[in-house]
Amino acid sequence: MKIVDSIEEMQTITNTYCNQTIGFVPTMGFLHEGHLSLAKRARAENDIVVMSIFVNPLQFGENEDFDDYPRDAEMDMRLAKEVGVDYLFFPTKEEMYPSKLSMEMKMVEGVNILCGASRPGHFDGVITVVSKLFHIVQPSIAYFGLKDAQQAAVIHALVKDLNFPVQIKALATIREVDGLAKSSRNKYLSQKEREAASSLVKALTLGQQLLRNKSANFHEIRDKVQVFLQETSEGIVDYVELLEYPTLQAASASSEQLIIAVAVKYSKARLIDNYILDNSFNRLDELSF
Ligand code: PAJ
Repeated sequence: MKIVDSIEEMQTITNTYCNQTIGFVPTMGFLHEGHLSLAKRARAENDIVVMSIFVNPLQFGENEDFDDYPRDAEMDMRLAKEVGVDYLFFPTKEEMYPSKLSMEMKMVEGVNILCGASRPGHFDGVITVVSKLFHIVQPSIAYFGLKDAQQAAVIHALVKDLNFPVQIKALATIREVDGLAKSSRNKYLSQKEREAASSLVKALTLGQQLLRNKSANFHEIRDKVQVFLQETSEGIVDYVELLEYPTLQAASASSEQLIIAVAVKYSKARLIDNYILDNSFNRLDELSF
Protein backbone atom coordinates (compact mmCIF):
# COMPACT_ATOMS: atom_id res chain seq x y z
CA MET A 1 0.00 0.00 0.00
CA LYS A 2 1.29 3.40 -0.97
CA ILE A 3 0.52 6.48 1.09
CA VAL A 4 -0.04 9.59 -0.97
CA ASP A 5 -0.30 13.07 0.52
CA SER A 6 -0.14 15.19 -2.64
CA ILE A 7 -3.14 15.90 -4.87
CA GLU A 8 -0.96 16.11 -7.96
CA GLU A 9 0.64 12.73 -7.26
CA MET A 10 -2.75 11.12 -6.59
CA GLN A 11 -4.10 12.46 -9.89
CA THR A 12 -1.02 11.24 -11.75
CA ILE A 13 -1.48 7.78 -10.24
CA THR A 14 -5.19 7.55 -11.08
CA ASN A 15 -4.53 8.72 -14.63
CA THR A 16 -2.24 5.72 -15.16
CA TYR A 17 -5.19 3.41 -14.37
CA CYS A 18 -7.57 4.92 -16.95
CA ASN A 19 -8.38 1.49 -18.40
CA GLN A 20 -8.99 -0.15 -15.03
CA THR A 21 -11.72 0.23 -12.42
CA ILE A 22 -10.97 2.30 -9.35
CA GLY A 23 -13.02 1.67 -6.21
CA PHE A 24 -12.94 4.58 -3.79
CA VAL A 25 -13.76 4.75 -0.06
CA PRO A 26 -13.73 8.28 1.38
CA THR A 27 -13.33 8.42 5.18
CA MET A 28 -12.28 10.67 8.03
CA GLY A 29 -10.13 7.91 9.53
CA PHE A 30 -10.16 6.27 12.97
CA LEU A 31 -11.17 3.23 10.98
CA HIS A 32 -13.51 0.59 12.31
CA GLU A 33 -15.26 -2.41 10.77
CA GLY A 34 -17.87 -0.16 9.15
CA HIS A 35 -15.22 1.63 7.06
CA LEU A 36 -13.37 -1.63 6.45
CA SER A 37 -16.49 -3.36 5.12
CA LEU A 38 -16.65 -0.67 2.41
CA ALA A 39 -12.97 -1.18 1.56
CA LYS A 40 -13.37 -4.97 1.43
CA ARG A 41 -16.25 -4.59 -0.98
CA ALA A 42 -14.24 -2.13 -3.09
CA ARG A 43 -11.40 -4.68 -3.12
CA ALA A 44 -13.71 -7.44 -4.34
CA GLU A 45 -15.20 -5.35 -7.15
CA ASN A 46 -12.35 -3.26 -8.59
CA ASP A 47 -8.85 -3.48 -10.03
CA ILE A 48 -7.53 -0.68 -7.82
CA VAL A 49 -8.71 0.47 -4.37
CA VAL A 50 -8.18 4.00 -3.10
CA MET A 51 -9.16 5.06 0.40
CA SER A 52 -8.94 8.65 1.58
CA ILE A 53 -8.49 9.83 5.15
CA PHE A 54 -9.22 13.49 5.67
CA VAL A 55 -11.00 15.12 8.59
CA ASN A 56 -12.75 17.79 6.60
CA PRO A 57 -12.98 21.08 8.54
CA LEU A 58 -15.66 22.39 6.17
CA GLN A 59 -18.26 19.93 7.41
CA PHE A 60 -17.84 20.70 11.12
CA GLY A 61 -19.82 23.51 12.75
CA GLU A 62 -18.17 26.00 15.10
CA ASN A 63 -19.24 24.14 18.23
CA GLU A 64 -18.60 20.68 16.84
CA ASP A 65 -15.77 18.24 17.50
CA PHE A 66 -13.30 19.01 14.67
CA ASP A 67 -10.32 19.47 17.03
CA ASP A 68 -11.33 16.49 19.17
CA TYR A 69 -12.28 14.19 16.31
CA PRO A 70 -10.48 10.90 17.08
CA ARG A 71 -7.34 10.33 15.01
CA ASP A 72 -4.92 7.37 14.89
CA ALA A 73 -2.84 7.41 11.71
CA GLU A 74 -0.73 4.36 12.63
CA MET A 75 -3.75 2.17 13.28
CA ASP A 76 -5.50 3.43 10.14
CA MET A 77 -2.51 2.67 7.90
CA ARG A 78 -2.24 -0.85 9.32
CA LEU A 79 -5.96 -1.59 8.91
CA ALA A 80 -6.19 -0.10 5.41
CA LYS A 81 -3.23 -2.21 4.32
CA GLU A 82 -4.75 -5.35 5.87
CA VAL A 83 -7.95 -5.06 3.84
CA GLY A 84 -6.04 -4.56 0.58
CA VAL A 85 -6.17 -0.80 -0.05
CA ASP A 86 -3.67 0.02 -2.84
CA TYR A 87 -3.43 3.78 -2.28
CA LEU A 88 -4.20 5.65 0.92
CA PHE A 89 -4.77 9.30 0.08
CA PHE A 90 -3.94 11.16 3.31
CA PRO A 91 -3.65 14.89 2.56
CA THR A 92 -3.13 17.71 5.04
CA LYS A 93 -5.64 20.50 5.51
CA GLU A 94 -3.24 22.85 3.69
CA GLU A 95 -3.04 20.48 0.72
CA MET A 96 -6.83 20.27 0.40
CA TYR A 97 -7.58 23.90 1.22
CA PRO A 98 -4.42 25.97 0.45
CA SER A 99 -6.48 29.17 0.46
CA LYS A 100 -10.02 30.30 1.05
CA LEU A 101 -12.29 28.82 -1.61
CA SER A 102 -13.54 31.34 -4.13
CA MET A 103 -16.87 29.54 -4.49
CA GLU A 104 -19.40 27.79 -2.31
CA MET A 105 -21.45 24.68 -2.93
CA LYS A 106 -24.88 24.67 -1.37
CA MET A 107 -27.27 21.76 -1.05
CA VAL A 108 -30.84 23.02 -1.07
CA GLU A 109 -32.95 19.84 -1.05
CA GLY A 110 -33.14 17.27 1.74
CA VAL A 111 -30.89 19.13 4.15
CA ASN A 112 -33.23 20.98 6.50
CA ILE A 113 -34.36 17.77 8.16
CA LEU A 114 -32.73 14.91 10.08
CA CYS A 115 -29.07 15.72 10.84
CA GLY A 116 -29.08 18.71 8.50
CA ALA A 117 -31.56 20.51 10.76
CA SER A 118 -29.14 20.66 13.69
CA ARG A 119 -25.97 20.91 11.55
CA PRO A 120 -26.48 23.89 9.20
CA GLY A 121 -23.91 23.87 6.40
CA HIS A 122 -22.70 20.37 7.25
CA PHE A 123 -23.79 18.81 3.96
CA ASP A 124 -22.38 21.78 2.00
CA GLY A 125 -19.01 20.86 3.49
CA VAL A 126 -19.57 17.19 2.61
CA ILE A 127 -20.47 17.83 -1.05
CA THR A 128 -17.53 20.22 -1.43
CA VAL A 129 -14.95 17.76 -0.15
CA VAL A 130 -16.52 14.79 -1.93
CA SER A 131 -16.51 16.75 -5.23
CA LYS A 132 -12.83 17.56 -4.72
CA LEU A 133 -12.05 13.93 -3.84
CA PHE A 134 -13.93 12.64 -6.90
CA HIS A 135 -11.89 14.99 -9.13
CA ILE A 136 -8.67 13.87 -7.45
CA VAL A 137 -9.34 10.11 -7.39
CA GLN A 138 -11.63 9.78 -10.46
CA PRO A 139 -13.26 6.59 -9.19
CA SER A 140 -15.43 4.17 -11.15
CA ILE A 141 -17.41 3.22 -8.03
CA ALA A 142 -17.49 5.11 -4.71
CA TYR A 143 -18.62 3.34 -1.55
CA PHE A 144 -20.61 4.94 1.25
CA GLY A 145 -22.35 3.56 4.33
CA LEU A 146 -26.11 3.52 4.78
CA LYS A 147 -25.34 4.31 8.41
CA ASP A 148 -25.20 7.91 7.18
CA ALA A 149 -28.24 7.55 4.95
CA GLN A 150 -28.86 11.29 4.59
CA GLN A 151 -25.26 11.70 3.45
CA ALA A 152 -25.73 8.89 0.89
CA ALA A 153 -28.90 10.64 -0.36
CA VAL A 154 -27.05 13.96 -0.64
CA ILE A 155 -24.19 12.30 -2.57
CA HIS A 156 -26.75 10.66 -4.84
CA ALA A 157 -28.20 14.12 -5.60
CA LEU A 158 -24.71 15.62 -6.11
CA VAL A 159 -23.71 12.95 -8.61
CA LYS A 160 -27.03 13.20 -10.46
CA ASP A 161 -27.13 17.01 -10.57
CA LEU A 162 -23.48 17.50 -11.60
CA ASN A 163 -23.15 14.35 -13.75
CA PHE A 164 -20.15 12.92 -11.97
CA PRO A 165 -19.16 9.81 -13.96
CA VAL A 166 -19.16 7.59 -10.89
CA GLN A 167 -21.44 4.87 -9.56
CA ILE A 168 -22.44 5.20 -5.90
CA LYS A 169 -22.94 2.14 -3.73
CA ALA A 170 -24.44 2.56 -0.27
CA LEU A 171 -23.76 -0.50 1.87
CA ALA A 172 -25.16 -2.07 5.04
CA THR A 173 -24.50 -0.66 8.50
CA ILE A 174 -22.03 -2.75 10.46
CA ARG A 175 -23.10 -3.22 14.08
CA GLU A 176 -21.78 -4.27 17.48
CA VAL A 177 -23.09 -7.55 18.96
CA ASP A 178 -25.95 -5.74 20.69
CA GLY A 179 -26.93 -3.97 17.47
CA LEU A 180 -25.36 -0.55 18.13
CA ALA A 181 -24.11 0.85 14.82
CA LYS A 182 -20.31 1.07 14.80
CA SER A 183 -19.15 4.66 14.95
CA SER A 184 -15.95 6.53 15.75
CA ARG A 185 -18.02 8.51 18.26
CA ASN A 186 -19.19 5.49 20.33
CA LYS A 187 -16.03 5.81 22.42
CA TYR A 188 -17.39 9.04 23.90
CA LEU A 189 -20.23 7.16 25.64
CA SER A 190 -20.15 6.52 29.40
CA GLN A 191 -20.63 2.89 30.43
CA LYS A 192 -24.27 3.55 31.34
CA GLU A 193 -24.91 5.33 28.04
CA ARG A 194 -23.19 2.56 26.08
CA GLU A 195 -25.41 -0.06 27.70
CA ALA A 196 -28.55 1.91 26.83
CA ALA A 197 -27.44 2.87 23.31
CA SER A 198 -28.69 -0.36 21.72
CA SER A 199 -32.15 1.16 22.19
CA LEU A 200 -31.61 3.09 18.92
CA VAL A 201 -31.65 -0.09 16.82
CA LYS A 202 -34.42 -1.55 18.99
CA ALA A 203 -36.49 1.57 18.28
CA LEU A 204 -35.97 1.06 14.52
CA THR A 205 -37.04 -2.58 14.78
CA LEU A 206 -40.13 -1.47 16.72
CA GLY A 207 -40.94 1.05 14.00
CA GLN A 208 -40.53 -1.61 11.30
CA GLN A 209 -42.83 -4.01 13.21
CA LEU A 210 -45.48 -1.33 13.64
CA LEU A 211 -45.33 -0.55 9.93
CA ARG A 212 -45.70 -4.23 9.09
CA ASN A 213 -48.67 -4.63 11.46
CA LYS A 214 -50.38 -1.67 9.78
CA SER A 215 -52.08 -1.02 13.11
CA ALA A 216 -51.16 2.68 13.18
CA ASN A 217 -50.56 5.51 10.71
CA PHE A 218 -47.09 6.98 10.02
CA HIS A 219 -47.60 9.78 12.51
CA GLU A 220 -48.65 7.45 15.32
CA ILE A 221 -45.77 5.09 14.59
CA ARG A 222 -43.30 7.95 14.79
CA ASP A 223 -44.75 8.97 18.15
CA LYS A 224 -44.56 5.42 19.52
CA VAL A 225 -40.91 5.08 18.47
CA GLN A 226 -40.16 8.45 20.06
CA VAL A 227 -41.74 7.42 23.38
CA PHE A 228 -39.80 4.13 23.32
CA LEU A 229 -36.53 5.99 22.80
CA GLN A 230 -37.31 8.55 25.49
CA GLU A 231 -37.93 5.74 27.96
CA THR A 232 -35.00 3.48 27.09
CA SER A 233 -32.13 5.42 25.53
CA GLU A 234 -30.77 7.29 28.61
CA GLY A 235 -30.21 10.23 26.26
CA ILE A 236 -32.16 13.13 24.78
CA VAL A 237 -34.06 12.20 21.64
CA ASP A 238 -33.01 14.60 18.87
CA TYR A 239 -35.35 13.27 16.16
CA VAL A 240 -37.44 10.35 15.00
CA GLU A 241 -38.44 10.61 11.33
CA LEU A 242 -40.27 8.48 8.83
CA LEU A 243 -39.62 9.75 5.30
CA GLU A 244 -39.42 8.67 1.67
CA TYR A 245 -35.90 7.63 0.62
CA PRO A 246 -33.71 8.92 -1.01
CA THR A 247 -35.85 12.01 -1.68
CA LEU A 248 -36.32 12.62 2.07
CA GLN A 249 -39.77 14.02 1.33
CA ALA A 250 -42.78 13.18 3.53
CA ALA A 251 -43.59 9.46 3.38
CA SER A 252 -46.84 8.43 1.75
CA ALA A 253 -48.61 5.17 0.94
CA SER A 254 -47.15 5.32 -2.58
CA SER A 255 -43.51 5.72 -1.44
CA GLU A 256 -41.33 2.99 -2.96
CA GLN A 257 -38.70 3.22 -0.23
CA LEU A 258 -38.85 4.61 3.28
CA ILE A 259 -36.31 5.63 5.85
CA ILE A 260 -36.98 5.43 9.55
CA ALA A 261 -34.24 7.45 11.21
CA VAL A 262 -33.40 8.27 14.82
CA ALA A 263 -30.85 10.46 16.60
CA VAL A 264 -30.13 10.61 20.32
CA LYS A 265 -27.90 13.09 22.12
CA TYR A 266 -25.67 11.74 24.88
CA SER A 267 -23.43 13.79 27.15
CA LYS A 268 -20.47 13.79 24.73
CA ALA A 269 -21.84 12.31 21.50
CA ARG A 270 -24.86 12.35 19.29
CA LEU A 271 -25.69 8.94 17.80
CA ILE A 272 -27.72 8.25 14.66
CA ASP A 273 -29.18 5.13 13.12
CA ASN A 274 -31.75 4.22 10.47
CA TYR A 275 -33.44 1.44 8.55
CA ILE A 276 -34.22 1.75 4.85
CA LEU A 277 -37.36 -0.21 4.01
CA ASP A 278 -39.01 -1.25 0.76
CA ASN A 279 -42.76 -0.82 0.22
CA SER A 280 -43.42 -4.14 2.00
CA PHE A 281 -41.37 -2.82 4.94
CA ASN A 282 -38.49 -5.26 4.40
CA ARG A 283 -35.07 -3.90 5.25
CA LEU A 284 -32.80 -2.96 2.35
CA ASP A 285 -29.14 -3.49 3.12
CA GLU A 286 -27.71 -2.10 -0.06
CA LEU A 287 -28.53 0.56 -2.62
CA SER A 288 -26.84 1.49 -5.87
CA PHE A 289 -27.34 4.88 -7.51
P1 PAJ B 1 -16.68 8.84 8.09
O1 PAJ B 1 -17.60 9.22 9.21
O2 PAJ B 1 -15.27 8.49 8.41
O3 PAJ B 1 -17.35 7.64 7.32
C1 PAJ B 1 -16.78 7.13 6.15
C2 PAJ B 1 -17.77 6.15 5.53
O4 PAJ B 1 -17.96 5.04 6.41
C3 PAJ B 1 -19.16 6.80 5.32
O5 PAJ B 1 -19.65 6.45 4.03
C4 PAJ B 1 -19.98 6.19 6.43
O6 PAJ B 1 -21.37 6.11 6.12
C5 PAJ B 1 -19.35 4.80 6.55
N1 PAJ B 1 -19.64 4.19 7.85
C6 PAJ B 1 -19.50 4.74 9.08
N2 PAJ B 1 -19.93 3.89 10.04
C7 PAJ B 1 -20.36 2.78 9.40
C8 PAJ B 1 -20.93 1.53 9.83
N3 PAJ B 1 -21.13 1.27 11.11
N4 PAJ B 1 -21.25 0.62 8.89
C9 PAJ B 1 -21.03 0.88 7.55
N5 PAJ B 1 -20.50 2.03 7.09
C10 PAJ B 1 -20.17 2.96 8.00
O7 PAJ B 1 -18.78 10.04 6.34
C11 PAJ B 1 -17.68 10.59 6.40
O8 PAJ B 1 -16.61 10.04 7.02
C12 PAJ B 1 -17.40 11.94 5.73
O9 PAJ B 1 -18.57 12.72 5.78
C13 PAJ B 1 -16.88 11.83 4.29
C14 PAJ B 1 -17.88 11.13 3.35
C15 PAJ B 1 -15.54 11.09 4.26
C16 PAJ B 1 -16.63 13.25 3.73
O10 PAJ B 1 -15.77 13.97 4.52
